[in-house]
Amino acid sequence: MSQPVLVAVAWPYAQGPRHIGHVAGFGVPADIIARYHRLRGNRVLMVSGTDEHGTPITVAADREEVTPQALVDRYNQVIADDLRRLGISYDCFTRTTTPNHARVVQDLFLTLLDRGYVFRKTTLGAFSTSTGQTLPDRYIEGTCPHCGHPGARGDQCETCGRQLDPVDLIDPRSRIDGEPPVFRETEHFFLDLPQFAAPLRAWIEAQTQWRPNVRSFSLNLLDELQPRAYTRDIGWGVPIPLPEFADRSDKRIYVWFDAVVGYLSASLEWAEAAGTPGAWRDFWQDPTARHYYVMGKDNIVFHTIIWPSMLLGYGAGGRVGGGPGHPPLELPDDIVSSEFLTMESRKFSSSRGVGIYVGDVLDRYQPDALRYHLCAAGPETQDTDFTWAEFVRRTNDELVATWGNLVNRTCSLAHRHFGAVPPAGELEPADREVRTAVEAGFERVGGLIAAAHLKAALAEAMGLAAQVNQYLGEQEPWRVVAGDPARAGTILNVALTCVDNLRVLLAPFLPFSSEALHRQLGHAGVLTGEPRVAEHDDGEGRRHRVLTGDYAEAVGRWQWQTLPAGQRLLPPRPLFTKLDPAVVDDELRRMGLEPG
Ligand code: MF3
Ligand code: ZN
Repeated sequence: MSQPVLVAVAWPYAQGPRHIGHVAGFGVPADIIARYHRLRGNRVLMVSGTDEHGTPITVAADREEVTPQALVDRYNQVIADDLRRLGISYDCFTRTTTPNHARVVQDLFLTLLDRGYVFRKTTLGAFSTSTGQTLPDRYIEGTCPHCGHPGARGDQCETCGRQLDPVDLIDPRSRIDGEPPVFRETEHFFLDLPQFAAPLRAWIEAQTQWRPNVRSFSLNLLDELQPRAYTRDIGWGVPIPLPEFADRSDKRIYVWFDAVVGYLSASLEWAEAAGTPGAWRDFWQDPTARHYYVMGKDNIVFHTIIWPSMLLGYGAGGRVGGGPGHPPLELPDDIVSSEFLTMESRKFSSSRGVGIYVGDVLDRYQPDALRYHLCAAGPETQDTDFTWAEFVRRTNDELVATWGNLVNRTCSLAHRHFGAVPPAGELEPADREVRTAVEAGFERVGGLIAAAHLKAALAEAMGLAAQVNQYLGEQEPWRVVAGDPARAGTILNVALTCVDNLRVLLAPFLPFSSEALHRQLGHAGVLTGEPRVAEHDDGEGRRHRVLTGDYAEAVGRWQWQTLPAGQRLLPPRPLFTKLDPAVVDDELRRMGLEPG
């Protein structure tokens, strides 16, 4: 049965090139899930884009001495390009600066306002003493009034996880110039979160499939739920859609309340571009659809509290949703949040200059090597340290030694002695055993991916590759072939069939090498398909770049299949490049660290 699956991937700020910690948190896990569901025959819609508003952008633009627009134009391209080269198979990777996005964001705002979920209130806002400009919450630092952590940010304390307001901080100071801010009265719109506390609690309590820390963290937040400001004193963002704000350039919708709506607006954009404007409803208004949200752990509150509240309040919708008669918008099903990735023992931080950029890694290494490492040794359930030594070790000792070696030995022998898939004679117990194990992999690996246990899923698939390697070592077809070519043919038929099925089992993790193997084994068509750059018309005479793909044309299927005897094999070429251990020192030096 084909199920609609929405894979909603966190939107990276178009504020600079992204480092590998970012793609470990959202890109790679989301792509594994999307590719798996497509192989299963499910209808997948994977959406995201660059997050282009708010102070993260204006601060970076000031630093680079360019306009916010020029900054986001540049980094939208850089980031989209990195994600494409890493093979992140979005159906629509767009931007938050499109007219379509603004229209959907404003529809949500007005609908929530109409229904009494948004109210106006005058509060104390923080302004910079030197420039007089508004100081965003996250650029104010001080001591947490709850736990005493000295480096708490104005929006949230990283240590105790509590939501904060900058006025609550003890000894507040600007992270930009270190000066204490001044607090002045300013009027804002607020999302009345306490109205959603009861339905949120009932809903979250039922989400037993969430990772336990995500569920308990979210339930804890409900205990002290406060209204959250929906607007900010800033000129760069989606305008407030009320006549009295039409001429005002000093208040905009808060970037987070704009960005989360992107999941919905990008779905509309995708449907429109596909020539089926209503197709987004199959994902958003069908209760059988499954919604995965994939992000880093600092984004959890926005995906388990804020966005669900907006969805609950919006219900069957305003103009966009279609109003009464249409079902309400669906809430998240899976919150796939990653922990942090540190690098060579330091926290990834672009501002502190410690980071490994995705583009740089892809210039020097295979995308599958990076994908393998970020899944096998990534921050799925705990903060994790990336080291180049581990990267080299895992590439050489796992990817090359296990999977690469198995493919290489099997394909070389079969190609050399038979030139094609040899026929299988009668199967011996060992032959049947290894085939049965790989066949069972579809259910086991698939179940683990669907439940977002991606590390375990990859370990399971690699364990099968190791098992087939061992089978080959025990059967020694290279020795058998001289005296009993028919038996050697059977062994190689079994090994090739297992390799062929592992090509599918590993495709969500290692799409590029699986695709190469697909050709090497003589298959036609593409296995899963890769993202490509396209342009969408924004409806106002401009075009913008997106990532999309023609994945529906791919021939891969998530099921055991036998290789037809006689299928021609291409001359084998190694799938992976073994790394010289010297790259460790090279990379450390590049980062300005002392080797060894
Ligand atoms: N730009 C945010 C960040 O990098 C993530 C936004 S995700 C979405 O932390 F929910 F807003 F889409
Ligand atoms: Zn605290």
